[in-house]
Amino acid sequence: MRTKRENFGGRMAVIAAFAGSAIGLGNIWRFPYLVGQNGGAAFILIYIVFTLLLSLPIFLAESVIGRSSQANCRAAIGFLVPGRAGQLFGLLMVFTPLWLVSYYSVVGGWSVDYLVQACHLDFVRATPEQLDGGFERFIARPWLPVLFHMVFLGATVAVVAFGVKSGIERFCKWSIPTLFVLIVFLVVYSLTLPGAFKGVEYLLKPDFSKVTAHTFIDALGQSFFSLSLGTGIIITYSSYVKKSENLMVAGVGTAISDLAFALLAGFAIIPAVFSAGIEPGTGPTLIFDTLPYIFSSLAQHAPILSAVAAILFFLAIFIAALTSSISLLEVGVAYLTEEKEMKRGWASLLLFVICGAFGTLCSLSFGPLSQMKILGMKLFDFADSTASNVFMVIGSLISVILAAWVMPRSVLFRELTNGGVLRRNAHLFPIVRFLLRYVAPFGILVLILSTVL
Ligand code: PFF
Repeated sequence: MRTKRENFGGRMAVIAAFAGSAIGLGNIWRFPYLVGQNGGAAFILIYIVFTLLLSLPIFLAESVIGRSSQANCRAAIGFLVPGRAGQLFGLLMVFTPLWLVSYYSVVGGWSVDYLVQACHLDFVRATPEQLDGGFERFIARPWLPVLFHMVFLGATVAVVAFGVKSGIERFCKWSIPTLFVLIVFLVVYSLTLPGAFKGVEYLLKPDFSKVTAHTFIDALGQSFFSLSLGTGIIITYSSYVKKSENLMVAGVGTAISDLAFALLAGFAIIPAVFSAGIEPGTGPTLIFDTLPYIFSSLAQHAPILSAVAAILFFLAIFIAALTSSISLLEVGVAYLTEEKEMKRGWASLLLFVICGAFGTLCSLSFGPLSQMKILGMKLFDFADSTASNVFMVIGSLISVILAAWVMPRSVLFRELTNGGVLRRNAHLFPIVRFLLRYVAPFGILVLILSTVL
């Protein structure tokens, strides 16, 4: 017997949920750095073009697969590809987000720990000598990061267990606006610091001499990761979108919120980095290693303001990571409740145990398990690299091929135009279909080749 499916309440709920998935750690630690390294405004321009021409069509492909099926990701793919192959593709799309959430929640756990630390005034009072090597010492301690990882995953499970409407929708509807308020406050703070202008210049000055082939690959990869493509999330969330909603508007709304947040994060972080006289870095290092130096340096002039900014900053990182991990977990929960007829609470708990256990190993790979290498990588790096470079890319390719080449044109048209009612969408339809059939597969192939070669 099929369980009754829930729906998102309306346009705002849909965009908040999608944006919740899209806005995450990638916007905060990766985007600002990529912008600075790849020619400022030049990179932003390339990023926007790729998002419009490639990521947005793929987003639409996945949302059509999801909404037309009104089912979990495994079943949705099974409708389009019957038999063994469909099973395999579907299960891959369920597996990817669970693999991802296991290590993503380790980083989420770090944000919880830093948030707790930031609540003590000592956090901003630390001297550079005290801070030196602090991040390495923190992740190498075996059990505390594991504990915070479990706390973060527990918070994720708690929201998902409440269901699509009372859990995910309710949480995203207040947390996404809150996130924007927090980041705007931090931008204002950052831009008023002495020497902040250099950071603005680093972010905005177009420098085409820094644009290389790598710039294009970086922009494409970031755009895919940021919109959570190829992970079954868009398929699953779209299956909760009502037939009356406009999928194109949802897609564009999500892409705009995601880009806006990434830019705001850049203006919150980079000017502060420059003001403290520090070199911008990337990865978890930027947030967890560099930021404490910045807050302690800024505290020399205004300790209270710096302490407040530190708390708000780690709070923003925590919320951004949480709304993303919620979306990742929901793919597995939807699968278990619908295909295995488990109760939502039990399904969430089961995934808490499985992802918690795997995430624990990822977390320990910074400490006691650091000698355990797979293909020369720590378990954490292996999980990250396979998720972003292999599983998400394959997932995107499957979605594009299914929507553009396997699904009947009439279904694609019906879902994107609500049966022809949405006139503007009907005008855009041939362009979207062309992008999906020819341009998107080409872009994905380039990403694959760039990883393999
Ligand atoms: N989009 C999120 C970010 O930018 O951090 C990360 C992410 C979430 C990636 C969910 C993939 C995913 F399925």
